[in-house]
Amino acid sequence: MKNMEKLWGGRFKKTINKEMEEFISSLSFDKKLVKYDLLGSIAHAQMLGKCKIITKEETDKIVEGLKQILKEVQEDKVEIVTGEAEDIHSWVENKLKEKIGAIAGKLHIARSRNDQIALDERMYLKEEVLKIQGLLKDLQKSLIATAQKNLGVIMPGYTHLQHAQPLLFSHHLMAYFYMFERDKGRMKDLYKRVDVLPLGSAALAGTSFPIDREYVATQLGFGGISENSLDAVSDRDFILEFLSASAILMMHLSRLGEEMVLWSSQEFDFIELDDSFCTGSSIMPQKKNPDAAELIRGKTGRVYGNLLNLLTVMKALPLAYNHDMQEDKEPLFDTVSTLESSLFLMSKMIETMQINKEKMEKGSKDDFSTATELADYLVKKGLTFREAHKLVGKIVLYCLENNNHLENLTLSELKAFHKSFDESTLKILTPQAAVKAKDSYGGTSLKRVEESIKSAKETLEKK
Ligand code: ARG
Repeated sequence: MKNMEKLWGGRFKKTINKEMEEFISSLSFDKKLVKYDLLGSIAHAQMLGKCKIITKEETDKIVEGLKQILKEVQEDKVEIVTGEAEDIHSWVENKLKEKIGAIAGKLHIARSRNDQIALDERMYLKEEVLKIQGLLKDLQKSLIATAQKNLGVIMPGYTHLQHAQPLLFSHHLMAYFYMFERDKGRMKDLYKRVDVLPLGSAALAGTSFPIDREYVATQLGFGGISENSLDAVSDRDFILEFLSASAILMMHLSRLGEEMVLWSSQEFDFIELDDSFCTGSSIMPQKKNPDAAELIRGKTGRVYGNLLNLLTVMKALPLAYNHDMQEDKEPLFDTVSTLESSLFLMSKMIETMQINKEKMEKGSKDDFSTATELADYLVKKGLTFREAHKLVGKIVLYCLENNNHLENLTLSELKAFHKSFDESTLKILTPQAAVKAKDSYGGTSLKRVEESIKSAKETLEKK
């Protein structure tokens, strides 16, 4: 590391130990925040000028210098080299000094790196949350389109991963639509708490300069300003909330990922994933592996870990800023990038997968999954549900012992179990009839699923 200029040093007699310098540096990762640090600094300088804390000439020089750096950063004309500065705030101030000289030192009036980092992170997260909401919406659209395209396809529904009752495949897909709708809701809700300007809290106590925080909030597009300077620089709830909502979102993605892995296995063979989202084996020429789905499932671990990481960092920290809090950035950035790539890939996989309709429908036949229909039938004839359940259990056992299935029973076989069985009983035992009968609100009948797709589309259009 070359000898870098510090934002402090006046009270020190010795220079910093080299290992220590590397140990405390955050530039290798907080350089991701450079755009926000510059935009935040521009708004801060403009406010200092407006409030006559610095002269108009000084303001113009500082703002012009910052804008030049921003342009260079955006055009990739400048590289942020680890070791050039302690952190992104120092890097920006050093660069500004190179450009406009000592006047750059006026930029830090009435602010501290403590409110500055909180600002940068909030600006970054606001943008990313919006991006994630957009990606969630794209995934929901893929789910709706696939549900719509395959309306009427019947598959086995499972509990305990055992065949339970037949379902429309579209109903299964739409279940994920609603999970992601709640995830979007959580993002929308937490956004309100991210959208609060901490700048102007300075190190912890506020400032003696006559600043205008509302002006900075307006310049930077914040919905409000923080109420307590000490809280504003100590608070990382906004990141923790995001990490929690992300953990839940990844849990949903991991369930869908797991189902795609299962469904594409030879045993299920319900779907075929597009070649472009699979890889082969270096030894087994026949292999086609569902890697993206597996990795989405696997990466859920790091997203959970990131939440636990920061919860632990923040636990029992005394107010206000502590250097521990520098550890908030890597889990945050890692969660954002994991979420964004997982959401994108999941929606592409859903869009491109092939559905094996025959296999799904075959799977929902001859599997006793219409046994509940038979019990419901007896209840409608006057039995209590318990009596009906017991009797149908006996019928299932009879079939198992005679290597038979409910659908193949004759009327006389049924009648031997209960007198109220008649011709109409035989008709209720197909998966089609079972699906059709589930017409309660939110159920799997075609009519209900069509309604659900329609209202889901309306929900997406509204926002
Ligand atoms: N790099 C620091 C962080 O990410 C910025 C704030 C530093 N403040 C300080 N007083 N050392 O947390």
